[in-house]
Amino acid sequence: MTQSEQPIGIFDSGVGGLTVAREIFKILPSEDVIYFGDVGRSPYGGRSKEILTQFTRQDIAFLLEQKVKFIICACNTASAVALDDVIGSTPVKVVGVLEPGARAAMERTKSGRIGIIGTHATINSNAYARIIHEMDPKLKVFSLACPLFVPLAEEGYIDKEATRLIATDYLRTMREVEIDTLVLGCTHYPLLRHIIADVMGDGVTLIDSGAETAAVAARLLADENLLSAPNGRNRKGDHSFYVSDVPEKFSQVAGRFLGQVVERITRIDITRY
Ligand code: DGL
Repeated sequence: MTQSEQPIGIFDSGVGGLTVAREIFKILPSEDVIYFGDVGRSPYGGRSKEILTQFTRQDIAFLLEQKVKFIICACNTASAVALDDVIGSTPVKVVGVLEPGARAAMERTKSGRIGIIGTHATINSNAYARIIHEMDPKLKVFSLACPLFVPLAEEGYIDKEATRLIATDYLRTMREVEIDTLVLGCTHYPLLRHIIADVMGDGVTLIDSGAETAAVAARLLADENLLSAPNGRNRKGDHSFYVSDVPEKFSQVAGRFLGQVVERITRIDITRY
């Protein structure tokens, strides 16, 4: 098997990274993809840097054993807190979701006032603001943790009044600081996009970091001649899913995140890596 025929690896703390996988399936339908969801140890959003670094290293080691050609860290929390410390030693390219999301926000803001929402760990790391300020120190960045959005998305509270009330309460301060661009800095938030958009109002552009990352990954693979069907050959990619705990919950929730039924889910012992 040549390197370009090898699969793309995607990992996340659990089911949320399927919002990124969905984008990859859409724009790179010929690629084989191996997805790992660390459901046994999720959520990552309230964890320490030390633990997140260990988990991220193990998630990557598992994907490398599957002989992937390229890795996407779909988890904002792992991307924000752990990825920089881990990727130096990785033999294939690893991309996280922060830089593509930050860059897209920078390109679209007109007022120069950008909001970031994410888990506690992502927001406390200040990583999005750091990346944005490295590119343009004049931009104003406002960050806010919205931890309840994760269970609401997983439980399917996509268009419920309770979710609207929580979103209105959480996002009050974001409205007050008059941003014009808001980064959905967590895998789960694209599912609540409609409510978040309603609460923020028409003047605010939402950025889906996962979708931006999928586009960046496709460009990088093309640049490095790593696409499995570079000439648009009609090939249907194979998708396999691995999890670190019982697959039932994953398969129940996965359909909502991926927009299609997930078959063939294999449980692995991630602590072996
Ligand atoms: N995947 C995580 C993220 O994007 C959200 C869920 C979790 O906390 O594990 O930050």
